[in-house]
Amino acid sequence: MKAIAVLPGKPNSVHLREIPAPKLLDQPQPHVCKIPEGRAVLVKTLQIGVDATDREINEALYGNAPPGGEHLVIGHESFGQVLEVGNKVTELKPGDYVSCTVRRPGGSLFDTIGRNDITSEEVYYERGINLCHGYMTESFVDDAEYMVKVPVNLKHLGVLSEPASVCAKAIDQAYLAQQRLQVWNPKRAFVLGAGQIGLLATMMLKLRGMEVYTLATRPGPHRKQEIAEAYGATYVSTKQTSMHELAKKVGKPDLIFEATGNAEVCFRAMEVLAHNGALVWTSITGGKHDVTVDGAKINLEWVLGNKLLVSSVNGNRRHFELGIGALALGELTYPGVTERILTNPVAGLDNYKEMMRLLVEEKEAIKVFVNVA
Ligand code: BGC
Ligand code: ZN
Repeated sequence: MKAIAVLPGKPNSVHLREIPAPKLLDQPQPHVCKIPEGRAVLVKTLQIGVDATDREINEALYGNAPPGGEHLVIGHESFGQVLEVGNKVTELKPGDYVSCTVRRPGGSLFDTIGRNDITSEEVYYERGINLCHGYMTESFVDDAEYMVKVPVNLKHLGVLSEPASVCAKAIDQAYLAQQRLQVWNPKRAFVLGAGQIGLLATMMLKLRGMEVYTLATRPGPHRKQEIAEAYGATYVSTKQTSMHELAKKVGKPDLIFEATGNAEVCFRAMEVLAHNGALVWTSITGGKHDVTVDGAKINLEWVLGNKLLVSSVNGNRRHFELGIGALALGELTYPGVTERILTNPVAGLDNYKEMMRLLVEEKEAIKVFVNVA
């Protein structure tokens, strides 16, 4: 069957390759975890989303091949339909729609309790990213433990399950951490960045009843602005109003969700957070970028204001369930809006070059994904 892979460490190595089609009894990650007897699920791939992580993997800035090989099959945002299940799988059946978690357990205490997403080990195993092959293939096998059901009426948004899990986790982590305050009732949120993560976070924070400002560089009108506004948020172009000016005008935000991929913005955001607020960092910034800030001022304001920085990556099955739940509630509350994030479908794995081109060059693209089947 067809698979899309890269040679980690070698820039622009993305290619189509022929690999054996998996069978129910295969062990896809023998070097990491073994699927318990009877718990395997064979899935036909329907759609695979790509994001900046895939771009960085192809640029050889990120990612590693599984041990003993040179290639890494990419694809970590999965959506597919169950073909076959092992005899000990009761929660899924052929025909069900699923998405899979990305991280597989390492050896830390957190991994042993199902919290691979917060492993304390430096080495982490992620399908399609690091040390494990991904889902950009015609079919795949995994442990039912890592598969999350997508309701049939949400299948048009199924490929957003993984990015939604990342957003849902980051917001959940902020709320959990803010229990330190005994009462936290955030009113105003700034979402920095209007890519898929920024827009999904905008939706989730609006669903929590907040006054949301979604900030990105480019002045509207354009699709990102339309989507943010359709969720009931205010879109702000930082070319027209800077984050600092906005904070002066509308008040400092209680919650900042940072998703720009820009290290400078991550640190500048520290300058506008309200007292007792939480700043959530989700960007994965490859490469090197020096930033100059007034450290004394930030430290003083942060200490006097009891401010909190929360960093969040990945998501386990509970976060997938939260994310899929939010997609469903979002669909009922703002019908037809979220699918506007799905801007650039690519027809089939054969068109992988077009997929990478869109990811790298198409500035208007919000979500590039491959229709595999
Ligand atoms: C993925 C996460 C992953 C992270 C770090 C992101 O693009 O969506 O699942 O943990 O990259 O590799
Ligand atoms: Zn990702």
